[in-house]
Amino acid sequence: MKPLTHPRIAIIGLGFGAEFIPIYQRHPNATMEAICQRNPDTLKQVGEKFGIAKRYTSYEELLKDPEVDAVHINTPIPDHAAHTLQALRAGKHVACTVPMATSVEDCKAIVDLCAQTGLKYMMMETVVYAREFLFMRQLFQEGRLGKLQFLKASHQQDMDGWPGYWPGLPPMHYATHCVGPVLGLGRNQAQYVSCFGSGTIREEMHGCYGSPYAVETTHIKFKDSDLSAQVYRSLFDVARQYRESIEVYGSKQSVEWPLVEHGKLVVHTAKKPEPEIPEEVECPDFAHLLPPEIAAFTRGGVYSHDSGEEHLSFTQGGGHGGSHPHLVHQFVELLRGSGEGYPNAVQSANITLTGILSHQSAMRGGELIALPEWSLQ
Ligand SMILES: NC(=O)c1ccc[n+]([C@@H]2O[C@H](COP(=O)([O-])OP(=O)(O)OC[C@H]3O[C@@H](n4cnc5c(N)ncnc54)[C@H](O)[C@@H]3O)[C@@H](O)[C@H]2O)c1
Repeated sequence: MKPLTHPRIAIIGLGFGAEFIPIYQRHPNATMEAICQRNPDTLKQVGEKFGIAKRYTSYEELLKDPEVDAVHINTPIPDHAAHTLQALRAGKHVACTVPMATSVEDCKAIVDLCAQTGLKYMMMETVVYAREFLFMRQLFQEGRLGKLQFLKASHQQDMDGWPGYWPGLPPMHYATHCVGPVLGLGRNQAQYVSCFGSGTIREEMHGCYGSPYAVETTHIKFKDSDLSAQVYRSLFDVARQYRESIEVYGSKQSVEWPLVEHGKLVVHTAKKPEPEIPEEVECPDFAHLLPPEIAAFTRGGVYSHDSGEEHLSFTQGGGHGGSHPHLVHQFVELLRGSGEGYPNAVQSANITLTGILSHQSAMRGGELIALPEWSLQ
């Protein structure tokens, strides 16, 4: 498919999705073409606030618009797959918030359709563009970690009070924020998983998805590698401040996440005298990788200035490590025919299915489950 010089983007879903509007508007090589959400009052409000004339309450109508090249989907989780497939069938490129889908079949349908049409797909996983991840990846790429030995990640969040489909959600059904970084650091793929459930959530939530577990902990074996990773998650009834952590252990250096939000990363360097092994490090920002017009968006203050309010996930998630402008830039560059656009459809399926199959494994007492061959290409 021919690259686009100046892609025209539509955003679907304007809760979390609205955070991306001012970034596309300022990106020098993209046009914020249209916005879409069902409630006409909110649509009007958001459209007026950001000065966007083209507004749709119907997703189907938006997909007929020939002036829209690509959609950035931010609708509720159960709709991601259907909305992605609809867009691909309408000939639109897709960026979609996490997770890619909620079933093996839907992930496969998206991968197949991308392969058939040549359309681009990128899962908008925030953590793999967070400054802490970019810092660890830089250390890895520069060889400063030495040989990679183990990775670990967690995502714990108290989801009481979040919309309808969250109560009772199996923790591993929303695991991309921790699976993404452990696989993404070396651009690895998960080959098989074994997951244990632990503890129980309140009984009234057991029926929602047939899942009783308070915590799920999965081990991921990487394909064509001696590496494995451990990931743990909780959503309800576990006393823990919000934390999305990544830890990487190398032969020369390791990096550990702070226990409490806003603490510093700890870098351990091998063979130093014992008290000097750990060092608290201020994580650098990676705004220099972005066009100057959107560089300021790695810092949260810009949003308050622009829109007057922030999405709850932004406040709880500490601005997602400054990832939003990187996601926008990666997607725009992907459509323009350059850049990696990580993770693509196959990689996104592998990341998403690691979570889905981990939950299946937990329900079967930790049984080893292999990722499908087509997600390992
Ligand atoms: N760190 C992250 O990556 C991160 C953070 C927050 C939210 N999210 C994801 O973003 C998505 C949205 O989350 P939210 O909290 O904003 O949800 P929300 O329920 O507040 O908003 C959903 C939006 O989608 C719109 N919508 C739903 N169905 C539609 C349809 N058929 N056509 C047009 N518009 C439709 C709604 O009108 C609304 O604007 C979720 O999938 C969530 O997982 C990701």
